[in-house]
Amino acid sequence: MSMEFFIDSADIEAIRELCDFLPIDGVTTNPTIITKSGKEPEQVFAELAEVLTEDQKIIAQVVSLDYNGILAEAERIAQIRGGKNIVVKIPVTREGLRAIPAVKAKGISVLATGIYSPDQAFWAAKAGADYLAPYVNRMCNYGDGVGQVMELVNTLAQYGMDAKVCAASFKNVDQVHQLLAAGVPSITVNPDTIRDMVGHPGTAIAMEEFTANWQKAYGRTTL
Ligand code: G3P
Repeated sequence: MSMEFFIDSADIEAIRELCDFLPIDGVTTNPTIITKSGKEPEQVFAELAEVLTEDQKIIAQVVSLDYNGILAEAERIAQIRGGKNIVVKIPVTREGLRAIPAVKAKGISVLATGIYSPDQAFWAAKAGADYLAPYVNRMCNYGDGVGQVMELVNTLAQYGMDAKVCAASFKNVDQVHQLLAAGVPSITVNPDTIRDMVGHPGTAIAMEEFTANWQKAYGRTTL
């Protein structure tokens, strides 16, 4: 599987803006992210399905915390966009870990979420999750979040486990950079941090200098 970069947001305008110039692989949301949109969840899902192509994944989370509720909501989420390229986020609680194999047995892709330790992630991988989302910034409150995520990538490789780490929860570009430099297989990042990744002021200054010199020499700003 190739490296995937997702937007962690339900802000449709921000998603549209970023997808317009970056090869984004999809969108992840969570219950809090959906509430921040100020819209009903059904509306958010409909707009995501409209803005994204079917090649771009829609990754949405269950809200219920009990086994039966998780199963029922996973089936509802799996219906978004006719079920094309949909991934259901399930938390790594006891009920969630129990639900992961059952949801997988229905042919639904699963991202295990709310991961604060490589050990939780290990169990979610063993339960059959397709993706594992460690909360990097939140893990940094307890220790070396970045280092633990890379350790997790190595553990999965050692056992030949198929689960793909999807690093989540970032507060700054440096955290993202460290994970990318270490080769994290997938990542989900909020729009502001993605904008900060691509918008270095030095680039704009360099372009202004090229244009000014060209204008001075040739009296125009095109080739
Ligand atoms: O989507 C899950 C994760 O990205 C949460 O991020 O910023 O609330 O720690 P954050």
